[in-house]
Amino acid sequence: MSWWRDAAIYQVYLRSFTDGDGDGLGDLRGLESRLPYLRDLGVDALWLSPWYRSPMADGGYDVTDYRAIDPAFGTLQDAERLIGAAHQHGLKVIVDIVPNHTSDQHVWFQEALRAGPGSPERERYHFRDEPNNWLSRFGGPAWSQVADGQWYLHLFDASQPDLNWEHPEVRAEFVSILRFWLDRGVDGFRIDVAARLVKEAGLPDKPGQVGPVTSFEDTGPGPDKDRPEVHDIYRDWRRMLDGYGGDRVFIGEIWLDDPERFARYLRPDELHTAFNFAFLKCPWEAGELRAVIDRTLATHARVGAPPSWVLSNHDVTRHVTRYGREDTRFVKRIRDVEAPTDLDLGRRRARAAVLLDMALPGGVYVYQGEELGLPEVFDLPDEARQDPVFARTGGADPGRDGCRVPLPWSGDAPPFGFGANGSWLPQPPEWHELTADRQAVDPASMLSLYRMALRIRREEPALGDGGMRWLESEAGVLAFEREPGFACVVNLSDHPVALPAGAPMLASAALVETAAGEGKLPPDAAVWLRTSG
Ligand code: GLC
Repeated sequence: MSWWRDAAIYQVYLRSFTDGDGDGLGDLRGLESRLPYLRDLGVDALWLSPWYRSPMADGGYDVTDYRAIDPAFGTLQDAERLIGAAHQHGLKVIVDIVPNHTSDQHVWFQEALRAGPGSPERERYHFRDEPNNWLSRFGGPAWSQVADGQWYLHLFDASQPDLNWEHPEVRAEFVSILRFWLDRGVDGFRIDVAARLVKEAGLPDKPGQVGPVTSFEDTGPGPDKDRPEVHDIYRDWRRMLDGYGGDRVFIGEIWLDDPERFARYLRPDELHTAFNFAFLKCPWEAGELRAVIDRTLATHARVGAPPSWVLSNHDVTRHVTRYGREDTRFVKRIRDVEAPTDLDLGRRRARAAVLLDMALPGGVYVYQGEELGLPEVFDLPDEARQDPVFARTGGADPGRDGCRVPLPWSGDAPPFGFGANGSWLPQPPEWHELTADRQAVDPASMLSLYRMALRIRREEPALGDGGMRWLESEAGVLAFEREPGFACVVNLSDHPVALPAGAPMLASAALVETAAGEGKLPPDAAVWLRTSG
């Protein structure tokens, strides 16, 4: 069976993982030094946020050279060594590819600026004499004007001009870039903004565009996303990838709520898997979760692709914080700032949620720091914030820096072993309680729960790829079994519930002993049971 069908993939947000050279920014040496930690955690693969040469206007999602490593992260030799070292630790390496846009410092965009209106150089991007009414995903208009009066399209920051995917040179260049990294041994690609590469011909206005768009709500089809032609690109890429040895994978970042449209990207001759964002948008409520799980399984079954389960990533409010709130869905960050939060409740639910997602069929993603139970940081000083969303919304939206704060590894004071000289974003002093070193020796910690869950998940034949069956349960409870001999029960009700027959293997919280001597599952908790021989 292909490894990616049920892999546990750890997302490394490189800038914030570990700083190996003391400049306050995470890098490849730092990551290499932590490979034993990742191996011991029990994940199967790493997905690295973009490591390419970049002015870092959007944390590296603004690339100037797709074949070079940014000097702040290291060198091409460091990258090659990292790939080799990860493989030696039994970890696959997935890199992030950013095909929708380049940096405005990319040689193509610089040439386009110099060459002027009407030039072939401008055709690699979307230049026009008049902008249309589209808005940037980061707030403000999606068009900026250059010195000679023309406008260019950028769905994200003004420093991220959108490429014109109708242009044959753009297509050829990305196939060549993918080959460059495949030749260096990467095991796959996470495709940034995968549904938006192709725009509707003529770039027509969108009906009813209002206000800054920093929300992750899917408003349905539009001229700037999910165009039918985008599938040709992935079919091309897949043909190329299949020509390579090894079992390599394309993973799509696809924010489409419509299951039918989402599934089209996962047809057998396109991408292998995609992030299931429906799960992180779902409220902590049994009926709604069950509906999302059923829909996810049905959607993927239709095209034979494995589902994936995601609770957090570098773009959304950390789930320990979301789960500590009345409304636990991730919708948009603006509304997240003020909501009252009970972090103890959030951690309890986060522990239950990870046992749920690791027991479901398919693959799981772990975003760095979630295994430590890190909360979102809301009180960063404004001058420390780097996400362009903050500036583009005039500070109305705090942006995504709060889920990107460098990891606490050890010690009692910042930078908590992140590096020798501080960290690019300040860490809360109270994170001394959450360091990896401290949690590693505490069997009740979040880290210990992740380690145990990942170990069992790897060893249990019932877990990973395959089927599942719902068990009868009372309202507010999710219970399902997987063959052979495994059951998972999650209690989202407000009272302890009885468990089906079986021996507990792992629980997110201590079971409540009843007078009759049997264990009941407390609210906001989950348990894995061995149900037979
Ligand atoms: C994706 C990335 C996000 C980035 C954006 C533009 O959504 O996950 O971090 O800002 O694309 O590249």
